[in-house]
Amino acid sequence: MNLILIAPPAAGKGTQSELICNSYNINHISTGDLLREITKKNDEFSLSVKEKMEKGLLISDDIILKLIKDEIINSNNNIFDGFPRNLEQAKAFDLMLKEINQKIDYVIYMDIDKEILEKRISSRYVCPNCNSVYSFNEPDHECSKCSVKLIKRKDDTLEVYENRYKVYEESTKPIINYYKNQGVLYCVDADGSKEEVFANIKKVIGEI
Ligand code: AP5
Repeated sequence: MNLILIAPPAAGKGTQSELICNSYNINHISTGDLLREITKKNDEFSLSVKEKMEKGLLISDDIILKLIKDEIINSNNNIFDGFPRNLEQAKAFDLMLKEINQKIDYVIYMDIDKEILEKRISSRYVCPNCNSVYSFNEPDHECSKCSVKLIKRKDDTLEVYENRYKVYEESTKPIINYYKNQGVLYCVDADGSKEEVFANIKKVIGEI
């Protein structure tokens, strides 16, 4: 199964990906996580990626498509979190899948209001080691898996969030209609608890 999650920034794509992976034994491909791994290095390329991410701008399509190609070559059972991000990526992805006799089974659009997301951004903390995501109203917590101190993402300020949301509206939202026209789009209500949203997704992809 190939499943794409489309949603505004901080809508819960990573959170739902983890729940889906645990239940459905599916490979999680997050372009955000792959890029954050790149930014841990100190060369010129990594620094240019880091600079763009910290401003909430999209990384160029050729870099993203190369990352995706490397990931899907050995797996036809994937959840794509944060990819595709624009029409160019969506069209190139269709061609890439066709070449290896794969297809997209479900595109889930997680529908949620921006006001809720601004609150989630303020309370999000992440593990710098394993990328696990948490919500806390105050700092100084540790990752329950790695016992490492949780940090704030550099792009999780309200100022950068505005930019990320604008990029989402301008570049990512058009892919919703693209997939609707292909007959693979499903809309789920993402304004609920993590478990409620997961239940909405399970209604689409079926219980295991
Ligand atoms: P990326 O990492 O993909 O960021 P994003 O799309 O902005 O999404 P987030 O990771 O912010 O949020 P999420 O939807 O996963 O929510 P989460 O589960 O964490 O991309 C970062 C950057 O990389 C981009 O800006 C761009 O520069 C670059 N990039 C990535 N992909 C690219 C691509 N394809 N092309 C070009 N550039 C690319 O949840 C958020 C918070 O809410 C957490 O605290 C969580 O605990 C909480 N939460 C989740 N669900 C619920 C719930 N139901 N109720 C209450 N709280 C909840």
